[in-house]
Amino acid sequence: MLKIISAQEAASYINDGDVVAFSGFTASGAPKVVTEALAERAKAEHEAGKPFKIGIFTGASTSDHLDGVLSLADAIDFRTPYQSNVNMRNSINSQQIHYFDMHLSHLAQELRYGFHKKINIAVIEAADVSENGEIILTAGVGIIPTAATLADKIIIELNSFTPKSVRGLHDIYIPLDPPNRREIPVYKPSDRCGDVVLKVDPDKIIGIVETNLPDGLSPYTPADKITETIGANVADFLASQLRENKIPSSFLPIQSGVGNIANAVLGSLGANRYIPPFEMYTEVIQDSVIGLIRTGNIKFASGCSLSLSDDMMTEVYNDLNSFRDKFVLRPQEISNSPEVARRLGLITINTALEADIFGNINSTHVLGTKMMNGIGGSGDFARNAYISIFTCPSVAKGGKISAIVPMVSHLDHSEHSVKVIITEQGIADLRGKSPVQRAKTIIENCVHPDYKQLLWDYLKLGGTNHTPHTLSACFKMHQEFLNSGDMRKTNWTK
Ligand code: COA
Repeated sequence: MLKIISAQEAASYINDGDVVAFSGFTASGAPKVVTEALAERAKAEHEAGKPFKIGIFTGASTSDHLDGVLSLADAIDFRTPYQSNVNMRNSINSQQIHYFDMHLSHLAQELRYGFHKKINIAVIEAADVSENGEIILTAGVGIIPTAATLADKIIIELNSFTPKSVRGLHDIYIPLDPPNRREIPVYKPSDRCGDVVLKVDPDKIIGIVETNLPDGLSPYTPADKITETIGANVADFLASQLRENKIPSSFLPIQSGVGNIANAVLGSLGANRYIPPFEMYTEVIQDSVIGLIRTGNIKFASGCSLSLSDDMMTEVYNDLNSFRDKFVLRPQEISNSPEVARRLGLITINTALEADIFGNINSTHVLGTKMMNGIGGSGDFARNAYISIFTCPSVAKGGKISAIVPMVSHLDHSEHSVKVIITEQGIADLRGKSPVQRAKTIIENCVHPDYKQLLWDYLKLGGTNHTPHTLSACFKMHQEFLNSGDMRKTNWTK
């Protein structure tokens, strides 16, 4: 018989040095109260002069209820993969937390392969759980199907904010490991290959903690002039590819990245009259997708989570029957599968922090040293796309930073995985171009006017080498920002 326990009791089963796997993907589906109780426990242990830190595996970013409180309580030894919480980011960038960044599709299989530490406890948010260990997950799936199988013990957070009627939205599938792996049988975004419930050994369940809490995602920043223009440029580019028969007339499924820019880009794409209604095979289903499903611009969305603002989530839960055949939620190993991405021919649109004039992308590190969020699924998708597009505003911090620099200060996606770069200034189609041709196209089409001459001058410095870099100058713009706070003051001759 499964028993109801308090969050404090649940937290008491987690010990210093334990490795804990949490359900969810973004704030969606991540536990909320056991983690808060755990943070209180860690603080009490620290006050008593005792150590208390855990290792964390989870799907992606979580929320203040998890990454936030545990970072503030200095209760985390290591953490992977993607995160975006400000307190966690600070702890990572002061080496208080050992953070290792991973492609999201890799984590579950690497856990099964035994590459990482053993998972002691899995904490799983559920909409429902049965005595025989059948769990209906909430709004995010992440790595929890694999983690629940590997964990010694399980704690359930039964969150009544999510209606039990979400049963049927999930598709839980764990591939066999090599040498027995077969193809993942997803041949179109709406194909299902797994089970609607997650099955665990009921004997592993320590107890159930009852809650009633939303995920707490704030509304996305509304599109502004810059993000609207980026979105319009993406839509224009894709419409041109359709006209030139480089994309089949029935169109191809879209993968769209995380964050405010991606949310806005997707909105513009749906609004463009030359883009036919499309399907999505993506990682996070953000607010703009719901609007576009309602207008018929998006026919179907496969993802790993419903990362919706609280109001939008309530709207969806209140009208579940309209959405039932419009999306499916899968483990990140499947939503981000390179095999499936290549098979379906995804048009991938991800956001760069920084790009260089030769087409390399930095998605993660500010000025090469400070971790922003992580690579997320961008590498899973970009490397295996039909066309991989990276977008970003041409400048950051009021123009003091150029997003396009001579050489990226950290490399996440190489020139070989990046086919198109789009800013509010324009579109650089890099396909079939040599490094110097790519540089000319990017400077001409994507760089902000304040930085164009600076980057033309840099290109000249490099002479006639195949990739005309000047190693003594390639980070001078970054150095100038660190010195004076404004990259525009860069002087190549000093
Ligand atoms: N140097 C320094 N800071 C920069 C910068 C640069 N070149 N470019 C952007 N920034 C800053 C912005 O000023 C902003 O800072 P602020 O929060 O202090 O205002 C911050 O980075 C984020 O920019 P924002 O405009 O809010 O973008 P976003 O919400 O769309 O996020 C990424 C952009 C790149 C951080 C985000 O998309 C990401 O984490 N990507 C990596 C993972 C990924 O692509 N996943 C998708 C797979 S499905």
